[in-house]
Amino acid sequence: MAIDPEVGFTADVIRDPGRFVGRTELIKDCVAALNAATGLISVFGKRGVGKSSLLRQLQQMALGQYSLVKSAGLQNHIPSRPRTYLTVYYTCDSLITNGRELISRLINDQDPEDGLLRLVPNDGKEIVEFSRGKEVSGGADLKVVSWGAKGVETSKYAKVVPNDVIQTFRNFVSAIVEHQVHRRMKRDALLIILDEFDVIADKSGLGSLIKSLSTPEVKFAICGVGRDFADLIEDHASVERLIEQGVLPIRPMSLAESEGIIYRAAELFRGEVRFAPGTAGAIAALAQGYPYFVQLIGKQCIHELNAKGGNVIDDSILQSVTNGLKAGKAFPTLEGAYQRAIGGSEGRAILLHLLAEQSTESSTTDEIGRVVLKNTRTVAEELGVQFIDQLMPRLVEARYGPVLERIDQGVYEFVNPVLRQYIRLREVG
Ligand SMILES: Nc1ncnc2c1ncn2[C@@H]1O[C@H](COP(=O)(O)OP(=O)(O)OP(=O)(O)O)[C@@H](O)[C@H]1O
Ligand SMILES: [Mg+2]
Repeated sequence: MAIDPEVGFTADVIRDPGRFVGRTELIKDCVAALNAATGLISVFGKRGVGKSSLLRQLQQMALGQYSLVKSAGLQNHIPSRPRTYLTVYYTCDSLITNGRELISRLINDQDPEDGLLRLVPNDGKEIVEFSRGKEVSGGADLKVVSWGAKGVETSKYAKVVPNDVIQTFRNFVSAIVEHQVHRRMKRDALLIILDEFDVIADKSGLGSLIKSLSTPEVKFAICGVGRDFADLIEDHASVERLIEQGVLPIRPMSLAESEGIIYRAAELFRGEVRFAPGTAGAIAALAQGYPYFVQLIGKQCIHELNAKGGNVIDDSILQSVTNGLKAGKAFPTLEGAYQRAIGGSEGRAILLHLLAEQSTESSTTDEIGRVVLKNTRTVAEELGVQFIDQLMPRLVEARYGPVLERIDQGVYEFVNPVLRQYIRLREVG
């Protein structure tokens, strides 16, 4: 019987606290931020570093489910009476061009588990309390089981103001706070979580809107790709006083945490798969702190194991995985991105590899992972790569990825650090 890799590994956002590994400091910060009466929570970091997974854990804690906090050994940090919330979780997309459109999306979001609309008191809608985790006590949120025969209509509790989405949103929020948060669920506040906030092109005014709506009864958490808080919110001056607590930068994982993902997987497989000593460390080293890559490599190990038989992931399995990686056969998603970027040009492939391999040790912004074209120029020319300036544009063009973002004259950054690491490990070509 083939072993299902998904039992222990996943490329999806981690919702189940039992699968969430490490990040102890961030968990502590989540508890503190949720238990502060006011304040905006911001989560930012590079692509694939684990932002959404942390956000889903934050949502669990907001509902009063503290199993992760306890298993992380942080019981002492839980207040005797933790603040509890009802939650909304919305993932933005790049079709949302500005704040008004975001608000318009929110007031129309019919997601039965995470949408704002499900919480607006309304006659035509049937809702039940549901628990998001395995923990029995607490953790209940509201879920729509049926939108009713009449569908979604303006409710008698919350006034829809024609042509004014902002006021409609305000009215919805205050109706939710009064009827659902306080009266029905007896919670402290409403938490509105906005993931992929960075993709909204024009964020002007959102800071001041968030500020005006943030009260002890309404809290926002925003999350996205960014180097710091100011990358997420344009008019950050307006929210400055809201961010004393709750600034959560997510960095790559330590090697020990990455290894922890393998140990956790071993537990989840319940003895069906074993990892030979040293393999967890080897996988962690390949992944360079990116949990997404750990999960992908883990999965691929299981595929190899299924092909070869047996139940131990050892050096020979790992060798097959790295050979497949080198040849571009093991990770179709990353390989697709790589091929799209190089566009069949050998010269561009060489250039991309040289850029990916550039050491960032010398810079203080090591974590940012910038690369400088001129540092690569000479080597590339020595390797016979010509017309470097004609090879570059495709690498920064959106429709081919983009693989690189231009930061400054001759200075670039890999948009996806996992892809960068993949390129480092892959053979040229
Ligand atoms: N704490 C963790 N423990 C185990 N696996 C994790 C953890 N955090 C993230 N992962 C894994 O890493 C991958 C990326 O996680 P996630 O989607 O949360 O990252 P992200 O930063 O939101 O990515 P993106 O920038 O693409 O939105 C997923 O495969 C997830 O399973
Ligand atoms: Mg995400």
